[in-house]
Amino acid sequence: MKDIVENRQRISFGKKVKIALLALRENGLLWSICLAVYYATSAISAQAFAWMDSLRRKKQLPGLNSAAMNKLIWESWDWGAGGEEWSPSPEWKQSVIDCVLRKYVSEEDQVLEIGPGGGRWTEELLELASSLQGADISASCVEACQQRFADVDHAEFFVSSGRDLEGVADGSIDSLWSFDVFVHINKPELEAYAGEFVRVLKSGGKGVLHHGTVGGEKGGWRSNVTIEDMTCILTDVGLEVVDQFQTWEDNKGAEFEAGLYQDAITVFVKG
Ligand SMILES: C[S@@+](CC[C@H](N)C(=O)[O-])C[C@H]1O[C@@H](n2cnc3c(N)ncnc32)[C@H](O)[C@@H]1O
Repeated sequence: MKDIVENRQRISFGKKVKIALLALRENGLLWSICLAVYYATSAISAQAFAWMDSLRRKKQLPGLNSAAMNKLIWESWDWGAGGEEWSPSPEWKQSVIDCVLRKYVSEEDQVLEIGPGGGRWTEELLELASSLQGADISASCVEACQQRFADVDHAEFFVSSGRDLEGVADGSIDSLWSFDVFVHINKPELEAYAGEFVRVLKSGGKGVLHHGTVGGEKGGWRSNVTIEDMTCILTDVGLEVVDQFQTWEDNKGAEFEAGLYQDAITVFVKG
């Protein structure tokens, strides 16, 4: 059903009338009225999204992705599921751990996680890290992580401004990890963060960022950052992009995606 409605542009007017008449004959009036309402409102919402996207680009609006908006939304989130609601399957999560996290974060690293949320990746990072700092714009995330990892003595969580890493010492971090966070962060905040990455990373330290690639045009509440912006912003501050990918294969040959909205993962190193 959803496919028929979404593919409406490819169906001629004559065919649409035939479909409507057949639907009426086979399903009755009430069901067909509901179909008509669903059809009309989904067309209106698709058009509203297209206008929002266009206005956001033309007038450089922050959309739902400013630091203040992120703080407000994430402070109201229910962290009961620990962020697992964003893992499409246990296999996908394990592949992120095996093929991405453990590829770039090494044992005994001093780790900085930006936006730990409910601690979905923090648990795994803590297995490797000699110390972990978790900076999140949302006080409720920080509280959730402080409770979840209360017994771990090498972890520390604090509320951050959403554009800097105040409190993290210069040249102290081996690995920086951030998943499902920079997908929501706009260009001005990313630019501010990039300077902070240079400040807090050790020489040879690396960062792994999960982010959007198309500036939000595919939905998913993605920010205005494109893949080109990400590369430019990191290289402009002197960081070297060493890997950038949207899919990966696990050791059994199964392929996995970074996200539902053409997301990517960028890995960079401070020289
Ligand atoms: C979708 S959740 C992801 C949480 C966790 N990383 C995960 O993958 O389960 C987004 C997280 O990013 C945090 N966040 C959003 N904007 C931020 C910003 N500008 N700086 C730091 N954290 C931010 C939110 O508070 C929230 O914890």
